[in-house]
Amino acid sequence: MSDAFIDGFWPYRKDAPNYRAIPDAPADRDEVLQFVRRMAEAEDRMGDEGRVSGSLYSGDHGHYHFLGEVFSEFSHANVLQRDMYPSATKFEGEIVAMALDLLHGGSAGGSACGVVTSGGSESLITALFSYREQAREDRGVRAPNVVMPTTAHVALDKGAHWMGIEVRHAPLGDDFRADVPALADLIDDQTIALVGSAVNYPHGLIDPIPEMADLAMQSGVGMHVDACLGGFLLPWVEQVGYEVPPWDFRVDGVTSISADTHKYGYALKGTSTLLYRDRELRARQYFTYPDWPGGLYLSPGLAGSRSGGLLASTWAALVTTGADAYRESARAMMHTADIIRAGVDDIPGLAVIGDPLWLIAFRSTDPDIDIYLVNDHLKRAGWRLNSLQLPPALHFCVTRPNTAPGVAEAFVDALRDAVDHARQHAGEPAESGAMYGFGGTPQGNQTLNQLMSGVLDAMHEVAPEGV
Ligand SMILES: Cc1ncc(COP(=O)(O)O)c(C=O)c1O
Repeated sequence: MSDAFIDGFWPYRKDAPNYRAIPDAPADRDEVLQFVRRMAEAEDRMGDEGRVSGSLYSGDHGHYHFLGEVFSEFSHANVLQRDMYPSATKFEGEIVAMALDLLHGGSAGGSACGVVTSGGSESLITALFSYREQAREDRGVRAPNVVMPTTAHVALDKGAHWMGIEVRHAPLGDDFRADVPALADLIDDQTIALVGSAVNYPHGLIDPIPEMADLAMQSGVGMHVDACLGGFLLPWVEQVGYEVPPWDFRVDGVTSISADTHKYGYALKGTSTLLYRDRELRARQYFTYPDWPGGLYLSPGLAGSRSGGLLASTWAALVTTGADAYRESARAMMHTADIIRAGVDDIPGLAVIGDPLWLIAFRSTDPDIDIYLVNDHLKRAGWRLNSLQLPPALHFCVTRPNTAPGVAEAFVDALRDAVDHARQHAGEPAESGAMYGFGGTPQGNQTLNQLMSGVLDAMHEVAPEGV
């Protein structure tokens, strides 16, 4: 492993207590607190400067601190014990109600409902499970498949892999959104659902949801909209006057929506909502087992024990932010995104992908500009973008910290420099590649197997001895 790789994953290995076993004597609480604070401050610096794409949605440390206080009141409480903690029922019910109100659940004729999950991936995977169960029980589907554009979130592929569901990926249209005829070609009698996004992770685009929902209805299958990223922002963007094509429960045929509170809801990490047009579909995710010696088991979803703190703090995030501030933030983020988009448009050799709102993906249209070399240079200048593939591209997903004065303009300047750098180094290998969740791969583009063993293993180890 290279020094840079080791430094990246284990920067604390030399200057901190490193544990390989639980210590006999307890560590001093003040020292632990100081040490944890030092790590948090160092790691927050880049995000606090507004130089990070996505990931940090609120950026307000006062807000985080308050949510931490609310969390701590119920951090130890187990949501499973509803008789002891009826507050959990209140918090979860009201989070779902507020999400449904925002996404026009009322259009579903009073039967819309939902659950709170641990995050976008759990919401997506649970939705897949519900559709699989529905298709199996009602239509006898035994070889289930789900049909979606290539840009739908990869957690769906993961869930489908775990649950034995075939994923049929349809190519995109020229506008980089789902191509409805291509989706139609993939549907058969074993299809359980279609999935579209509002907005999708790679390019920030909204699929043609009304056309897809029509197709789903004609085919007699469910239609899930993945609004994990857009669900708590698109409504405010629409309310402040931007044109947003229809995508929520106002569209007939949309049978479920995932929308993450821990993204633009500004909640702490660890919650999302999964909303259903009707209760009958939600019931498909319930599991009951009457014959266990541990007792009659009734479980609404994947989780067993979970912390009441997450429900309390998510509820508190929604009610203490309030609609006015959500709208103001939406306005500020759209303004920032408009500057970035205009800046990209102005740089010869770059092109914005599709017609995005606040997540701006761009690629190179000039063979002399390797977009990953552009990313290398941006990284060195302190910017952390998300790199994409198929086609190679970068995206900047604008969040509140990016709305600080001057950030968007500074980014456009840095991008122009980075493009010059890429031209000057055309043909040289780039350090960064496209790896989800990272600013780029740690060691350029390797084979998938090398990455699997090198990176996934490494992330689950303590610092190697003697380095
Ligand atoms: C569109 C979309 N769906 C799903 C997810 C997965 O969410 P999570 O990381 O909370 O599991 C993401 C994450 O960025 C996303 O952008």
